[in-house]
Parts: sequence; structure tokens; C-alpha cells
Amino acid sequence: MTGERIEIVRPDDWHLHLRDGAMLEAIVGFSASVFGRAIVMPNLVPPVRTPAEAEAYLARIRAALPDGHPFEPLMTAYMTDDADPDDIGAGFENGIFRAVKLYPAGATTNSAFGVTRMEAIRPVLAKMERIGMPLLVHGEVVDPAVDVFDREAVYIERVLDPMRRDFPGLRVVLEHVTTVEAVDYVRAADGGLGATITPHHLMIDRNAIFRGGIRPHMYCLPVAKRERHRLALRAAAASGDSRFFLGTDSAPHPRRDKETDCGCAGIFNAPNALQCVAQVFDEEGAFDRLEGFVSRAGAEFYGMEPNSDRIVLEKGVGSETPGEAVTVGDDTVRVFEPDTPVSWRIVSGLR
Ligand code: NCD
Ligand code: ZN
Repeated sequence: MTGERIEIVRPDDWHLHLRDGAMLEAIVGFSASVFGRAIVMPNLVPPVRTPAEAEAYLARIRAALPDGHPFEPLMTAYMTDDADPDDIGAGFENGIFRAVKLYPAGATTNSAFGVTRMEAIRPVLAKMERIGMPLLVHGEVVDPAVDVFDREAVYIERVLDPMRRDFPGLRVVLEHVTTVEAVDYVRAADGGLGATITPHHLMIDRNAIFRGGIRPHMYCLPVAKRERHRLALRAAAASGDSRFFLGTDSAPHPRRDKETDCGCAGIFNAPNALQCVAQVFDEEGAFDRLEGFVSRAGAEFYGMEPNSDRIVLEKGVGSETPGEAVTVGDDTVRVFEPDTPVSWRIVSGLR
């Protein structure tokens, strides 16, 4: 189908940073108006580690939305070296935690509390394997000797594959995959392994970070790779293989934290994530698979039903583009602006 209009089951976002305080209030509506549910990343400062912290954070997210808004945040625990298996397991069994996020210490924004030794978390992984609790992995090594563009591929070899052999029943999502190696690894796995893919990694390769000068708003982690990797991600997303699903990794930062000597990693795409993915599937001639990637495959991995309502996109002449920035306090957050046109917009189903 190459129609100018498409109606799909409401999508979910399986990887989202909602932040806290004024930032949360400014940005949560962009996700909540489009997505039914979202896996909310726990990398606040300090991070969300206990069920009580997750409950308090969930209440702050709900308070930032209009009363009774149907958006459903799915909370996650931040893995640390001293995470308590019983505490984490109880959070899952009580329904407050949906998964645990593993950040190697130092790998990315707000990962200072992350895991320094995989041996330290073996009891937690064993517990998660037993109770069927998913582990969400930021798959990059932090070894400074490894080139930044190789950190994902090396992580798979050095950390992810050995861990999956030790805990074969553990359900794992390799988050925001960026390489051929990751796509191939997920495809070859015999079960229990999924991967999220972001809109921006489907749209930009590493040249976008340097086109015409250094562009901090194209910088995120894992950093965009060569064009051949982007093409592999597009092929995986558009293949209909349900192990690949949408996680926007929308990660807002105030402009002053990105446009500086040492700008931080993160791309804010919540206002146009779905439109960008629709554009990609249109270009790939895979429109009939869009719904699987954005609305069905992730729910299937997490053992949930797809959403029950629908959303409509239309290909427009002179479509509206989302504003280029969102104001937060005395600063702004830039919205992801791909270098290629996005002609899809949401015409109904926003809430
Ligand atoms: C994320 C953030 O800003 O929280 N940044 C990013 O570049 N993706 C952290 C993360 O998901 O790595
Ligand atoms: Zn992220």
C-alpha cells in the first residue's frame, strides 16, 4: 500500500526519556498525545532504583498530564552494582517495574551510577531470568581504548553474548541498535532477544553530525554510524521481523547543555518521531509493515495487547513541521530536524 493516508493502531514508545521537573512538564505531552504507552528510562539524577522511587516518579509524570489522561508510563529500574534482587523482583511482581535498565557506568548521559562489574549483578540477573523480567541494555563498552564507533559491536562480543550464554532464559532488549553487527546478532538469536530502533538512526548517518560544521543536535549515544549501518537498520525495521520495534530514545537537553565545549548526548524527537518513521517506511516501500514496527512488535515482546484505538497519518503537500524548539524555563530544547523532508503528519487520534 502506498496510500496518501494510513490508519494504524496507536503506537507505543519502548524507550523514552521523560526527565523531571520543568523539563518533564514541558515535554511529556508530545509523547502522551501520540503514544499509548512508553517505557520510561530511569536515568534521573539520582536514578530511579527502588519501587518506591518509581512510584513517586510515576506520580510526578501523571501530575504533569491533564487529569485522567490515558497515556500509560511503564516504569523501569536503574541497575547498579548493589541492586537488591528481592527489591527489584518485588517491584516487577507488584507491577510497578516492567524492566531493568542496564547502563555500563560512564557509557552515556547520567550513567555515573551504572554497573561497573557484570559479576556484581549476577544475582539480580538470575532473579530476573527466573521471574521473566526483561533486561534493557545500553550496549556500549566504556573501555577508552575502543573507538567510539566500535563500542556497540565490541559490547556484543565482550559482554552481551557471554551474559546471554550464562542466563539463556533472560529476556533482553538491546536498546537503540546502530550497527550491522547488532542487527545480525539479534537476527541470529534463538529467542528472548529484541531490539529497539530510533527514528534518528533510521534517518541520519554519522556525516550528519559534521555536515557544514559541527552539529551538536545530531549527537546522541550510541553515536550514528556509517551509511551502511543506517541501511541495515532500515532493512531490519522494514522487514516485518517482530524482534525489532520502535524506541524513540527521545532525550531532551536544554540548548545550553548541547551547544557548549563538551555538549551532552541526546536527540529530542518526541514531537516528530512517528512522522519520521512513517516517512522512512514510505521511502522503503514498506507501509504495510509500519503498524507492526510501531504498534505491535514491542507489545508482543513485553506480553501486552496492542492499544485498542487508532491514529491516522496523512501525506501532505506543505505539511506542517513541528516547531523547531520547545521552551523550558529560560532555555529551549531543539527538536530533531532531519536533513531530508518529512511529509507525513498526524491528522487524527491525537489526545
Ligand atoms: C540519553 C539521555 O540523554 O538520557 N542520551 C542519548 O544520547 N541517547 C541516554 C541514553 O539513552 O543513552
Ligand atoms: Zn535512551
